[in-house]
Amino acid sequence: MRWLVVGGGAREHAIALALARAGAEVAVLSSNANPGLDRLAVARARGDPTVPSEVVEHARRLGVEGAVIGPEAPLARGVADALRAAEIPTVGPGQGAARLESSKVYCRELLARRSVPGQPRFALPSTPEEVDRLLPSFEGRFVVKPDGLTAGKGVRVAGSDFTDPREGATYAKALLLQGSRVVLEEKLDGEEFSVMAFVTDAGVHPMPAVQDYKRALEGDLGANTGGMGAYSQRDHLLPFLSTADRDRAVAILEACVAAIRAEGQPYRGILYGGFLLTAQGPRLLELNVRFGDPEGINVLTLYEEGDFSELLAGVAGGRVDPNLLRFRLRATAVKYLVPPGYGGRGGGAGGLVTLDEAAIEAEGVHVVFGSVEAAGPGAVRFGTSRGIALVGEASAIHEAGTRVEHALGHVAGAYYVRHDIASAADLERRRERMRQLLVPGARASPLPLSVAGPAAPPSSAGSPEQLTG
Ligand code: GLY
Repeated sequence: MRWLVVGGGAREHAIALALARAGAEVAVLSSNANPGLDRLAVARARGDPTVPSEVVEHARRLGVEGAVIGPEAPLARGVADALRAAEIPTVGPGQGAARLESSKVYCRELLARRSVPGQPRFALPSTPEEVDRLLPSFEGRFVVKPDGLTAGKGVRVAGSDFTDPREGATYAKALLLQGSRVVLEEKLDGEEFSVMAFVTDAGVHPMPAVQDYKRALEGDLGANTGGMGAYSQRDHLLPFLSTADRDRAVAILEACVAAIRAEGQPYRGILYGGFLLTAQGPRLLELNVRFGDPEGINVLTLYEEGDFSELLAGVAGGRVDPNLLRFRLRATAVKYLVPPGYGGRGGGAGGLVTLDEAAIEAEGVHVVFGSVEAAGPGAVRFGTSRGIALVGEASAIHEAGTRVEHALGHVAGAYYVRHDIASAADLERRRERMRQLLVPGARASPLPLSVAGPAAPPSSAGSPEQLTG
């Protein structure tokens, strides 16, 4: 089967690699020349993946039998609808359902209206004066989220991005004055994790849980990024995540899918839940309507036991064979190599990196290309974003991380990488943080648990809800 992969980043390279392992042909449409995708693809087109008519035209010309859309922007622009209207089976929700990611206001309002469990308290100010009125109920512990797509970079969190609540208020007001809508959310304590699922007409089929490292610098410092790396555990849980909590997270995703369907929006694609495991159980921080980047790279690396092309065809067709939902029982660690200035610290594109891919593979590590362009044999040049994902596999997470560290010995040039990702010390720190949150009594009755809402006007605040998942 010939697939069109829409998008040119590392996530799309990982999707294409999984398709190629299944013997499928890959055609690619992207605005950039990703060296990994270009060498793997049987056909390629350069174009704007967010323009529906252009994507359909390329899909027809390239003779594809199905399409899988990697990034959020084409989904938000209705590319999946256009492909389906052209009778090309497509993995990815339509524009209506993509609002779960493209509008945080829509998402929170919908999930509250449909009583989806696991939502943090939130409020939706519509004027700077309302920011001042609503914020005091959060007692300084809040997160400011602009409404639209921001590639993970628009969210500001008390304690990390600002220490004085007035700074957070100023940011929220500035966004409103620029014409953006804003979500104010309570800041909770816990560990973040992601659960992605294949969503069909017939159900929600979860993938292994992953933990992403969103901050630019070691120790979870610096600016929010799209994600500097991620790990997954051999049993598909996480060092701090039990089966029961993973199942609660999946139940929340199922409720989200039921909520969007109840709005008359079908969903055939990938749904990503970004969660925080709190002392009271998982809370939903965000929904994305696509594979996470880098989280998708972790799980796609593990997908070798079934036929990925057949699985995606099932998703596009509305029903998958459960026998195809098989991920290997291995731990993974992804570390992104980025330009030294990535994450708002100056620097930028153009730096040359040389790498010995055969030697890296010999370390049990795979190379996935993101924002780089080819620069001769064994060399690439950084773009402005995350450049090269190195994916280590092993039976334990820290061993997978160590493999990536060894593989770095076969890479030369100026780059930045978070060495603490998937290190034994970092994993222990996370386990310990969760243990501290769960000191006896702190989680006496996880379910059901009432979450009090802020004292906010009914017109602008999220309603309190019950965690029943
Ligand atoms: N790594 C977070 C995301 O893909 O949105």
